[in-house]
Order: sequence, then C-alpha cells, then structure tokens
Amino acid sequence: MTSLALIGGTGFDRLVGLEVARQEAVKTPYGEPSGPLLFGRLGEREWVFLPRHGAGHTIAPHQINYRANIRALKDAGVTRVIGLAAVGGIAAGLTPGRVVLPEQIIDYTWGRAHTFFDSPDAAVKHIEFAQPYSAPLRAKIIAAAEAGGVELASEAVYAVTQGPRLETAAEIDRLERDGASIVGMTGMPEAALAREAGMDYATLAIVVNPAAGRGGGGEINMETIAENLEVGGAKVMEIITRL
Ligand code: HPA
Repeated sequence: MTSLALIGGTGFDRLVGLEVARQEAVKTPYGEPSGPLLFGRLGEREWVFLPRHGAGHTIAPHQINYRANIRALKDAGVTRVIGLAAVGGIAAGLTPGRVVLPEQIIDYTWGRAHTFFDSPDAAVKHIEFAQPYSAPLRAKIIAAAEAGGVELASEAVYAVTQGPRLETAAEIDRLERDGASIVGMTGMPEAALAREAGMDYATLAIVVNPAAGRGGGGEINMETIAENLEVGGAKVMEIITRL
C-alpha cells in the first residue's frame, strides 16, 4: 500500500513526472475530496497525489474540504503527507523562488470545518500541537534537500490567512510582529487535521511573491508568481524525488 501523499497547491494542480497508474474517485463521511486520488510513481517511490484546489484550480482556499481530503488519504492507507504551498515572503531573505520548510504555524483562518472531533456522539479530544509538523518527516525532507543541493529555509513560521484576497500592507506588518515569516492561505486546518488523523505531516512551501507592501511595495502580479513557481517548483521536485 502507498503510504506517502502529496497535496498539491497552487502551481501543483498536476505533478510533472508522476507516472499515474490509476485514479480513484472516493467519498468520505465529510463529503468529497478536492478530486480523485491519483496513484503513481515518482522517482523511486509510490505516491498518492491530490491537488488541493481541484484539477482545474477551481476551489478557493476557504472552500476546500480539508476534512474530506485528509480522510480520503487516511482511508487510502496514507501515513505521511507533504502539503505543497505557494506563499508570500515576509521575512528578509525569504525572497521569491526560495523553498521553505516551516516549523511553526499561526492560524488566522476562520469558519473552516477544522476538526474531526466535533461529532455529537464522540468524546472531545484535544490534540498536542505545540510542534505542528512531524519532526521525522521534516528531517527526511531536510536530508533530501541537502542531498539534492537545494537550499531550504527550515525555521520559518507560516501565517495562514483566510483569503482568497491577498493581505493589506498593515496586515503583513502585523503578521511580522506576530513572528510570521511566510504567509499563505491553505496550511490550516490541513496540518491540524492530519495530526488528528494520526498522520505525519509537513508543509513544503515556495515563496512566489514578496508579501503585500514588501519587496519595493509593487503590486503582486500573477506573471511573476508563475515564473517564481517554476523556479521553486523545480527545487521542490528535486527534493520530492530524493525522498
Ligand atoms: N499571501 C497569502 N497567500 C499567498 C501569497 C500571499 O502573499 N502568495 C501566495 N499565496
């Protein structure tokens, strides 16, 4: 059984290099995941791949059925999940094209179905989440990046905003005061749900733009985002194929 999964973010609606052996449309008690699960080979390993925003990138960050996605992977026998994400860079040095393995999260999202533990007939559980990402999985990713010669920023704090709009410059200043170094819209509740489901989870992020009001204060433009996704995406694939 395939135990590794990739949840693709913006720029990763398809996984170049994945030799898809089969795909499976599944249902869960929480509804349908973002699309069919794709089973295939990448590098030396079998992977399950699920594009978070749907195959045609049509599902906005706040509309993603995070519970169905995690439950579908769990039901498929997945034990380790890497969530790929395109993010804005807040901290100096986290410039477009850089690859980041965050080690902490601050959750600013609201109104998302964010727990499996809210069924009326089940006991409430409070997961341990001080270290939101799996240390063993992070160590493997760090080792793969080193082996592939990819520079990885591995001490970042990921601020997860509600979206789909981008932030104001003042909001980014606030996130920085809070200690955040990158900003994206999909890191939560995905990470917490994976923990609730007992799975190892890590986020691998590509900085695709300077966060609002940073990097000279110009507008965030989709063309440069696409270019940076390509540069960072090649580095991410180098890491993934070496895992
Ligand atoms: N903010 C939030 N989410 C993002 C950004 C950003 O600047 N870039 C890519 N995803």
